[in-house]
Amino acid sequence: MGDVSHNKKVLVLLGSPRKKGNSAILAQEIVKGAESAGASCETLFIHKMNIKPCQSCYACQKEDSKGCAIDDDMQTVFPKLIASDTWVIASPVYWFNMSAQTKLWMDRCFALLAYRGNAFKKRIAIAMTYGDTDPFTSGCVNALRTFQDAFRYVGADIVGMVYGSALNSGDISQNTELLKAAEELGKKLAT
Ligand SMILES: Cc1cc2nc3c(=O)[nH]c(=O)nc-3n(C[C@H](O)[C@H](O)[C@H](O)COP(=O)(O)O)c2cc1C
Repeated sequence: MGDVSHNKKVLVLLGSPRKKGNSAILAQEIVKGAESAGASCETLFIHKMNIKPCQSCYACQKEDSKGCAIDDDMQTVFPKLIASDTWVIASPVYWFNMSAQTKLWMDRCFALLAYRGNAFKKRIAIAMTYGDTDPFTSGCVNALRTFQDAFRYVGADIVGMVYGSALNSGDISQNTELLKAAEELGKKLAT
């Protein structure tokens, strides 16, 4: 019998307004590693998508729910989130936490809670950059803690985190050790 395992699907959610900024560069290294090991990757530039904040209508939590009631671009993101094996969350640190763009789509994942155990049987990789030199004083750890708490709550598995200091767009490219770690994390996502 042949190998019936399927190629892993990786969905990358870029949460910076800089399409080629530091967090996107880290995410790209993860993609490089994942694709080299056989995964198929799709990248979403969240900043350019029409994603509204959760309205707290609870329509997604009703027993006969058809999912999130808000008619915006999340309606195309939900099926991608569900279909992928792994989510790569890439975000800059903004005001001592994740970017608003990242928090927007994460809040909307409330609609996936109805599928808990299925929709959230995901592996998660995180890529973050910050201007400060330290992951604590930058606020990066606040975001990492939030991701840890949220994904523990829904039973998803954080496979790895790469994060580092870089202020101007592209600065992170000088941190070759971190780029290598991102590529290695990507390879893990393909298995
Ligand atoms: C609105 C705004 C808020 C920021 N807040 C922080 C912060 O709280 N802590 C920090 O270390 N860096 C902060 N930064 C710097 C970014 O995190 C840093 O430049 C990061 O590498 C940007 O990633 P990107 O190129 O992917 O957008 C902030 C930058 C902006 C524009």
